[in-house]
Amino acid sequence: MSELSRIGVAIDANLLKQFDSLIASRGYTNRSEAFRDLIRDELVEEAWEHPDSAVVGTVTLVYDHHVRLLNEKLTDMQHDHHQQILSTLHVHLDHDNCLEVLVVKGTAQHVQAIAEKIISTKGVKHGRLTLTTSGKEL
Ligand code: NI
Repeated sequence: MSELSRIGVAIDANLLKQFDSLIASRGYTNRSEAFRDLIRDELVEEAWEHPDSAVVGTVTLVYDHHVRLLNEKLTDMQHDHHQQILSTLHVHLDHDNCLEVLVVKGTAQHVQAIAEKIISTKGVKHGRLTLTTSGKEL
């Protein structure tokens, strides 16, 4: 971590009250860590908007494994993008439904395209790409 800088922020009293209430409900014990997390979150979001940024994320999928050829299609796609899909967690939720979490890494553009392709596959009931960061820049 680089050296700490201290800043003063002028903020409307009512807005600050709402902020304090929000961060308390989320478990923060001080404003500084909450501010830092908000800034980091914006920086991560911003990185994802640049197609060539190096990014990390997870794709969460829920699907019915009885749908014809769906398992094969999903596995084929994961092999096609083995350099971007680093790991897969599979949970058999019940008799029919499976949950998969894929860890993805690559350029923002590439990772988003892969996620959209997988999530839009027929038979996938719900899917979401969660964006995060390698943490190097933060
Ligand atoms: Ni399963």
